[in-house]
Amino acid sequence: MKNRYPKPIIIIHWLTFVLVATVYLTGGNPTTTGLLGQIHVIGGISIFILFLIRLGFIFIYKKSIPQNKILNQYQEKLFKIVRFTLYLSLSIVPIAGWFALSSLTDNFKVLFLNLPLLSSVRDIQYIGELHEFLGNAFITIVGLHASAALIHHFIFKDHVLKSMLLNRNK
Ligand code: HEM
Ligand code: HEM
Repeated sequence: MKNRYPKPIIIIHWLTFVLVATVYLTGGNPTTTGLLGQIHVIGGISIFILFLIRLGFIFIYKKSIPQNKILNQYQEKLFKIVRFTLYLSLSIVPIAGWFALSSLTDNFKVLFLNLPLLSSVRDIQYIGELHEFLGNAFITIVGLHASAALIHHFIFKDHVLKSMLLNRNK
């Protein structure tokens, strides 16, 4: 058992964080927001691809995932629920985004390539609202997760945050 997450998982974790922040800041109707819309869609698709790669690494490194000491069983339950919700969001929010884009247009170019879209959901308005709601709920959970990590570091003064940081001595 190691006391830090394996390097590839740490890199994906922080890359995903930067992408989620970028995608959140570029939210809006990508068919009318030009470059911001391109960044939103490309960033969102990258988050989904990184999610799939991350799952692969979690499986490969199953035995090297650190088991940070949890203070009590409620904390452990809460940690598992938040982790599950984060994973769920990393997959469902981009998929909902793809449906939302399909509801707005049947022709969207990403880097000059036509993104395959679903014509059967065209003009269904609530899909965009659902994607927006899920995106905002995701950011709320990320906020709780990040606050918990900072509380561990600055108040409990334990190793939880360090377990997700690269070891600069190596
Ligand atoms: C984790 C990834 C994503 C997050 C957190 C996210 C978040 C958001 C948020 C918060 C909005 C609402 C912005 C506003 O109007 O104030 C939005 C809008 C939108 N996003 Fe995303 N998004 C993600 C990925 C994607 C992807 C991959 C696509 C397309 C393939 C996409 C397509 C859209 C569309 C079409 C809208 C406008 C919906 C409408 O106005 O009806 N998003 N997104
Ligand atoms: C988009 C933003 C974020 C997402 C989606 C996310 C997601 C995750 C996930 C799924 C895990 C479980 C390990 C894994 O399977 O990779 C994790 C662990 C962790 N994250 Fe984040 N995270 C985000 C942002 C942050 C931020 C901003 C911080 C710090 C301020 C942070 C600190 C940590 C720490 C310390 C762990 C290890 C917890 C432990 O094993 O006890 N994360 N994160």
